[in-house]
Amino acid sequence: MANEKELLFEARKLTKHFGPTVALDEVDFKVYRGEITGLIGENGSGKSTITSIAAGMQPATGGEMFFEGKPHRPSTMIEGARLGIGMIVQEQGTVSGITIAENIFAGEEERFRVGPFISRGKMNAEAKRVLEDIGFTGADPSAYIDTLDMQSRKLVEIAKTVYNKPEMLVVDETTTALSQHGREIIYNIMRKMKENNKAVVFISHDLQELIDICDTLTVLRDGKLITTLDKERMDEATIKKYMVGREMKGDYYRADYGTKISDETVLKVDRVTSGSGMLMNFSMEVHKGEILGIGGLSHCGMHELGKVLFGEEKLLTGSVTHVASGDKIENTQSAMKHGFGYVSKNRDTESLVLTASIQDNIISASYDRIAPNFVMTGSSVRKFVDEQVESLSIKCAGVQQDVQFLSGGNKQKVVFGKWIGRDCDILILDCPTRGVDIGVKAAMYQLIDQMRKDNKTIIMISEELPELIGMSDRLIILKDGAAAGEFKRSETLDENSIIEVMI
Ligand SMILES: Nc1ncnc2c1ncn2[C@@H]1O[C@H](COP(=O)(O)OP(=O)(O)O)[C@@H](O)[C@H]1O
Ligand SMILES: [Mg+2]
Repeated sequence: MANEKELLFEARKLTKHFGPTVALDEVDFKVYRGEITGLIGENGSGKSTITSIAAGMQPATGGEMFFEGKPHRPSTMIEGARLGIGMIVQEQGTVSGITIAENIFAGEEERFRVGPFISRGKMNAEAKRVLEDIGFTGADPSAYIDTLDMQSRKLVEIAKTVYNKPEMLVVDETTTALSQHGREIIYNIMRKMKENNKAVVFISHDLQELIDICDTLTVLRDGKLITTLDKERMDEATIKKYMVGREMKGDYYRADYGTKISDETVLKVDRVTSGSGMLMNFSMEVHKGEILGIGGLSHCGMHELGKVLFGEEKLLTGSVTHVASGDKIENTQSAMKHGFGYVSKNRDTESLVLTASIQDNIISASYDRIAPNFVMTGSSVRKFVDEQVESLSIKCAGVQQDVQFLSGGNKQKVVFGKWIGRDCDILILDCPTRGVDIGVKAAMYQLIDQMRKDNKTIIMISEELPELIGMSDRLIILKDGAAAGEFKRSETLDENSIIEVMI
């Protein structure tokens, strides 16, 4: 009966800003004991943000939280765990370079002290028991965690989290990374938590899984809580109805419709299965001068596709061919030789050297262009860099300034400058407008559109449907590493039909 439910966690007007991005906008969210509370919403709707704030991974910008009736403001995940919140994170949650047992008991080694020593034997034996408790057998706790595959590492993380006996367990998009066996393990744990009058917050994109498991389901969109559905109202059509309707703010996308795409194929992806296993037997063709949008939910393989196209991820089978030359793209050298550019999703770690200057970053992909005879003069460098800084209006104190002190938008402009300066023919952009403000976004869209008009080919991978719809000539949606649907540019194309194939 609804009025007997016991409240465990509550967020009131919880707000989180990342620079210009409003990840959470005054969200009120309640979690009850004895229930599995589902969270769903498109990529970027704020699911990980709200749960990670509850677990102590990051602070909120505003609002309040309560746990067991008391004000709740954990400043670290360790504090969150001590207070009774355990979280299985969306990313890798184990620490490389130490053993399985050390991962499970990190920070608690004292428990295994025998005289002046920490007893490895005791610790490993206890780790074995903890792993077996959740049904994970066969791993040697004294082995380095790096010897395990992704699923097994997740299971170690799960075992560790459960071992701390949380009152509230958060499971953030974990099931997609698991096989059926792994899923059964986690379903079991969630069921037991519920039986023991504890609480679970379960984040997944798998509608059927959510409907089967959850007692209530909360829908987030653009950092706002849209609705909470009880069991009776949980059906696929209703859930999807609440998920869509994201605002298409502004009119800074392309305005043209009906523009013909060239028949010329510049790039051919043939039955590719990638080393990470995130792309499965995937094929597509890319045409000259088009903006090809690639979308999908987390773990659909779209980011790996970007790496594959740029030769950064090894293939198990299949090939990527630069059609004009007939060459296979097997590494970044061959990609760059044929005029590919790549802007990674992880701009700060993969596309920039933060401790180097704007100038050094911009010229880093173009030594061969600036100095064809291996002589790089000060004036040729200056001219090259000034051109980019000016045409992109990068706001900086000077080109010698370190990139790390620039705003997100200006950092992204530096990354663009690096590839535009090189005059790339095929530009692979992974989440090009992530974490930049509206003004910079608009500038990026104009730039991308200008490149298209200059007959460059652009592959734009994005987690935001509005920009994919607004900018692409063609849009391929991936699901589980394969193409789930393809859409042509059209004024009438909306989110509904896309979300239909995406989930
Ligand atoms: N560390 C971060 N820096 C900048 N922006 C972030 C960061 N983490 C999340 N965001 C942004 O906050 C929004 C919500 O993200 P997130 O909570 O991860 O969404 P979800 O888990 O629902 O996919 C997104 O727009 C995302 O790009
Ligand atoms: Mg997330």
